[in-house]
Amino acid sequence: MSAFEVIIYEKRDGIADITLNRPRALNAYNLKMRDELYEVLGAIKDDPEVEVVILHGAGEKAFCAGADLTEFLTAPSPVIARRARFERDVWGRFLSIEQPIIAAMHGYVLGSGLEMALCCDIRLASEDARFGLPEPGLGIIPAAGGSQTLPRTIGRAAALDILLSGRWIDAKEALRLKLVNRVLPRADLLPEAEKLAKKIKSHHSLAVKYAKQAVVRGLDLTLAEGLALETKLGKQMMALG
Ligand code: COA
Repeated sequence: MSAFEVIIYEKRDGIADITLNRPRALNAYNLKMRDELYEVLGAIKDDPEVEVVILHGAGEKAFCAGADLTEFLTAPSPVIARRARFERDVWGRFLSIEQPIIAAMHGYVLGSGLEMALCCDIRLASEDARFGLPEPGLGIIPAAGGSQTLPRTIGRAAALDILLSGRWIDAKEALRLKLVNRVLPRADLLPEAEKLAKKIKSHHSLAVKYAKQAVVRGLDLTLAEGLALETKLGKQMMALG
């Protein structure tokens, strides 16, 4: 894997750690970050040593303040800037990862930042986290799955409230809406993510992958189909011994 410029990738003891690393720009998601995330997620997907992934942001102020607005401003239009994003299906890559992904979020979690977190499986937030989807205010709609993942996570009314009003919510409200699993003091955020990753990693790795698959794929199925999927995966596990 090549050296990265705007993310940091570390792998230790079966835990893959991805840091969004543009702290001076509040980890805004630019094309470079798109390419590097695409590459690293592809590597994680095929890496049998990785059992859990943690995603977080560098610096004091943000997990990610959304799409890089300077790229939007230098492109002929937000629509053209947006088109470039479709050249790599980073969100599809996120969703194709079999290992659980934990998002550990602090500070600003806006636009693509929130959409990235919504592609993760477990979301931990620090008390200072703020969430929002500013896209409609910029004359665009979310393009990283947010219009689909947010209502599937917090329901239609709450998702439309956040998306259409453009209002930001704090960590307490995010917890109430079940957008995040837990809210922690800032100093505890990464240690807690690490502790959770280690706990998951202590379990049978195939059982973890299959359990994730059963839940994630099952959500798009009828109950009968979901139960059939669970049975199929269970039998596959037994066959593998
Ligand atoms: N794209 C590019 N640069 C960004 C950015 C973004 N989305 N968000 C923040 N930055 C940059 C700022 O331009 C600033 O750079 P500078 O120091 O070179 O001037 C730096 O990050 C710090 O941001 P700043 O605005 O000074 O911090 P703040 O605490 O006063 O405000 C925000 C933080 C998040 C409220 C504000 O930066 C903001 O509104 N950002 C845009 C959010 C957004 O609309 N994202 C797009 C979603 S589609």
